[in-house]
Amino acid sequence: MKSPLPIEVRPVRNGRGLVATRPFARGEIICEIKGTIVTAEQVWTYWKRSPTLAANCFRYGAHRYLNPARELGTFANHSCDPNVGVIKVGRKLYFKSIRTIDADVELTHDYSTLLGADDIWTMVCNCGEPRCRAKVQSFHTLPPALVRRYIRLGMIPQFILATRP
Ligand SMILES: C[S@@+](CC[C@H](N)C(=O)[O-])C[C@H]1O[C@@H](n2cnc3c(N)ncnc32)[C@H](O)[C@@H]1O
Ligand SMILES: [Zn+2]
Repeated sequence: MKSPLPIEVRPVRNGRGLVATRPFARGEIICEIKGTIVTAEQVWTYWKRSPTLAANCFRYGAHRYLNPARELGTFANHSCDPNVGVIKVGRKLYFKSIRTIDADVELTHDYSTLLGADDIWTMVCNCGEPRCRAKVQSFHTLPPALVRRYIRLGMIPQFILATRP
């Protein structure tokens, strides 16, 4: 998929993924994550007819998700040592760099940052990072030091913090 944005969809370690076509400084907004806002109930219906679609949704609020169907968010892979965070500003979600990123490097975010304790989805991880957690699950299962780091980076929305058991 060609894109006017400074990212492209390319083959990567885990299927297709988003790759930077230019370098990014730390703290740059890379692009908006576009999609349709749907209810948690709608996502439940996706699990029955298209689990892939359900798994691709980004948590957007206490009872809302963003379905990125056909947009770039569909191709955003997870890493346990990510270079990008998902941030919510107003009503929009964005990818933001959390370190300097060279051109041709895959952009990854940590799916756990948008998984509340009430999200049951988990994933066996193949990110290949030395600090890989092997299983991707709720934010509240992360090691305390990583929780503190992500909160300090402003990457954890209140609606995820509020699900703390
Ligand atoms: C939003 S899609 C990303 C695009 C996907 N790689 C593709 O080729 O269509 C999310 C899916 O990619 C795969 N994936 C992403 N990150 C992964 C990882 N770290 N380890 C294993 N699979 C991963 C999983 O199948 C996950 O449900
Ligand atoms: Zn991993």
